Amino acid sequence: MRIYRTADYQEMSRSAARILAAQIQLKPDCVLGLATGSTPIGTYEELVRQYQAGWLDFSEVKSANLDEYRGLTRDNDQSYYYFMRQNLFRHINIKPENTHIPDGSQSDASAECTRYEHVLTQLGGVDLQILGLGHNGHIGFNEPADAFAQTTHCVDLTRSTIEANQRFFAREEDVPRQAYTMGIGTIMRARKILLLVSGSAKADILYASLRGPVTPQVPASILQFHPDVTVITDEAALSSFLRQ
Ligand code: GLP
Repeated sequence: MRIYRTADYQEMSRSAARILAAQIQLKPDCVLGLATGSTPIGTYEELVRQYQAGWLDFSEVKSANLDEYRGLTRDNDQSYYYFMRQNLFRHINIKPENTHIPDGSQSDASAECTRYEHVLTQLGGVDLQILGLGHNGHIGFNEPADAFAQTTHCVDLTRSTIEANQRFFAREEDVPRQAYTMGIGTIMRARKILLLVSGSAKADILYASLRGPVTPQVPASILQFHPDVTVITDEAALSSFLRQ
């Protein structure tokens, strides 16, 4: 595991975008595993800048997102489908048919999760998976649990996640209570992982994830067992490391 320390959110975003750009240049038809949340927004902005400058071509790139709220249709402005369109896809030349996100409007959870795992298999697996870190250590929407989930599944969101994500919704009761997410096993099958963490509010959970015991109670701790993880974090998120 490599941990890169950057001064702030902007530098973290630029560093992450450089790694993604290198991946695309080395393998133009790569499969990118994409994440939502506020953390990767700056990285996506930087990728859009590089595309607009003519440095990047997404015409052969494929993508698969980590997760989606169950119960939201794609035109809902809080769906992750909408987020990806607004923050990345509509600004670059990725082909819509090459972008994959669990379909939150499918009420048959088991069928939708099976379909999504099949999509990932057909793609040949993820080359580079971007991850953010939830305040309780979740990755994708894999919440603290008694066991690591292997494959794409439907989760009940925890109170802490509902509260953390409520800032994007008009009212707390509008936050969906369930989501479809790649499993920990699905995430661990990615060839390379890029974990992005910013801000002092994530410092303790980042330390617990990277230096604490590997436990499904801190889902991101499993990353200690992945052979190719790059962590890019700003100084604020590293503050618990610096105190040790
Ligand atoms: C959400 C997403 C995660 C994301 C996390 C952190 O719940 N499902 O994939 O990493 O929140 O979000 P943020 O980057 O806004 O802190």
